[in-house]
Order: sequence, then structure tokens, then C-alpha cells
Amino acid sequence: MYKPGPDEIGDLAADIAAFHDMAPDMLDFREALIEGLSGARKAIPCRFLYDERGSQLFDQICELPEYYPTRTEIGILRRIAPAIARIAGSGAQLIELGSGSSAKVGILLDALDRPHSYVPIDISREHLRAAARRIQAIYPRLRVEAVCADFGQSFDLPAMQGEGRRIGFYPGSTIGNLEPVEAIAFLGGWADRLGRGALMIVGVDLRKERAVLEPAYDDAQGVTAAFSLNVLARANRELGSDFMLDGFRHRALYDAATGRMGIDLISLVDQSVTLDGRRFDFAQGEPLHIENSWKYSLDDFQAMARRAGFTPAAVWTDERALFSVHLLEVAPPAR
Ligand SMILES: C[S@@+](CC[C@H](N)C(=O)[O-])C[C@H]1O[C@@H](n2cnc3c(N)ncnc32)[C@H](O)[C@@H]1O
Repeated sequence: MYKPGPDEIGDLAADIAAFHDMAPDMLDFREALIEGLSGARKAIPCRFLYDERGSQLFDQICELPEYYPTRTEIGILRRIAPAIARIAGSGAQLIELGSGSSAKVGILLDALDRPHSYVPIDISREHLRAAARRIQAIYPRLRVEAVCADFGQSFDLPAMQGEGRRIGFYPGSTIGNLEPVEAIAFLGGWADRLGRGALMIVGVDLRKERAVLEPAYDDAQGVTAAFSLNVLARANRELGSDFMLDGFRHRALYDAATGRMGIDLISLVDQSVTLDGRRFDFAQGEPLHIENSWKYSLDDFQAMARRAGFTPAAVWTDERALFSVHLLEVAPPAR
């Protein structure tokens, strides 16, 4: 079968089987922002980082020399894809959570025996649509059904018509954005949805020295800072707030005791921001929290997966133990 080369892939697009739009509306952003700015510790939920511009900036982050997770996870996936394909069997149905540009799923699709379908789920609508159409063009026999939704909310998955194994794919250490207890609940919810016998492949960033971690989230070119500040530009554009983008600076701080990388926008001056006629005061130096990225040890993550109802089947890392890919199986119900 003809497969396009990397140079041709950028412009490729083909109609997909279905696009299910269940994206949260603007009200969700407005309510979340007002609530987040009203608390004692100001915060914006990180799902709002991903509008079209945010998704483009995230793709640029993935190319940065400091941002080791993407290239490291890709290296691991290339190495383990044949092993996963053997376990998965033929006709697999892949469901990717937070699929972004769907840049990694091709490694699995190339290795799997006649994969039946691919369901990318993402909150960033137009980015998802373009990525799904690109995958459809590269794999014309695959049934591609995209879902624009908040994967933390309940929504109906497209009815799966294949008979192969269901495989959840959750790369990029997106799981690290959740607090550990939330991550267990999230995984538990997806174990139920995927059902008995399903597999789940989860990319998880590992604990490591601050000297590697902090530059990965605060690069020399300032792309990560632009990604963070974009959420303020988005709020100004979509909700009519008046954040001064040059009144905040991006900060990435790693807490080695807990394994939490915390990303904040720090107010550079005493200032106030208005939204919907309300005023929110920032003191100089006050953080606006926008994202966490939790890092785990292999054992910690496997223990969390067990608590969520999965049985860890295998785990792989790279030579430097920077990143891990876990293969989990939905445990049969206790008798
Ligand atoms: C860290 S990026 C990872 C992207 C890609 N999976 C990778 O491995 O490079 C997180 C992705 O999850 C999506 N996302 C974040 N929060 C989401 C949510 N609540 N529901 C659905 N998608 C979400 C973002 O739009 C983005 O594409």
C-alpha cells in the first residue's frame, strides 16, 4: 500500500467517518475563569490552555531541545510497538485521549495488524479535526471517528463496530496534569469505559533532577512562556477580560519532595483585571496557577493504576530513565 513520506504529510486531509462535537461551550470557560480568579489561590484550569493557538504552540514545544518528553516517548514507542502489536492482536480499536496532532499514533498503527478504528479525543476542535483528517488520509482503510470533548467529563463514545481489542492510548504524560487522586479516578473511569480485556497505553514522565525538568518547562526561546501567556490572550479575546500580557511572567518550579512541576503566571506589578464587570486584584509577585505536571516513579504509577482497576502488564523506559510507557490491562472484576 502507498504510504506518503514525511514531507507530504503536512497537507494531507481526507474525510473521516464522523466528527462528534461535544466541546464545552464558552460558558464553561467564563465560569471556570471567574471561579478560578475568585479563590484565595488564583488559578485557571489547564484544559483552557488549548485553543488553536495553544495547540500550535504545544507542537512547537515538542520540538524544543529542552523538551525531552516527546522525542523520548517516540523512541520508546518505536521500540515497543511490535510487542504491543503482538499482545493487541488483529482489528484493534484505538481510542486516544488528548490526541493533539495525533503525531504518535502512527507508530502503533504501523505496527498493529489491520487496526479497525481510531477515535482521537481532544478539546481543541480545529486542531483535532485537521489531525484526524491527516490520519485518515494516511490510513484510508482505518475508520476514523473524532470526538471533540473534555475527556474528564462523561460523554458517549462512538459505538465501536469492530471485534478487536479496545486500546486506550494516553501519551504525552497528559496524566501528569491531574492531581494524583484525580488521576486514579480518571483512570478508573476509563477502565470502566474501555471494558474488560481492554488495554491502555499510558506515557508517564519520570522523576528526575530539577536541572533537566525546569528548562523543559521554561525553555530559552520562550515558547513555553508564550504557551502559558496565550491563555490570558484567549480570555481577553473570547471573554472580554483585560489581562495585560506583559504584566505577567511564566514560572516553572519543580518540587522534588512531591514530584510536582508547577506552572504559574506571576504578576509583575500590583494590578487588577476585569471580567464581566467584576474586578480581580493581583499583588506584585502573586501567582496565577495554570498547570501542574506530576512526575512519578514506575512503582508509584503502577500502584495508582492498580487502584484504578488496571493490571500493569508491562512497562518500558528509555536508557536514561527519563520517561516511561506503561501497558495496562483492565482487570477482570473481583469474584
Ligand atoms: C500535553 S498535550 C499532549 C498531546 C499529545 N497527546 C502528545 O502526546 O504530544 C495534551 C493534549 O490533551 C488535550 N487536552 C487537555 N485537556 C483536555 C481535556 N480536558 N479534554 C480533552 N483534551 C484535553 C490538549 O488539547 C492536548 O492536545
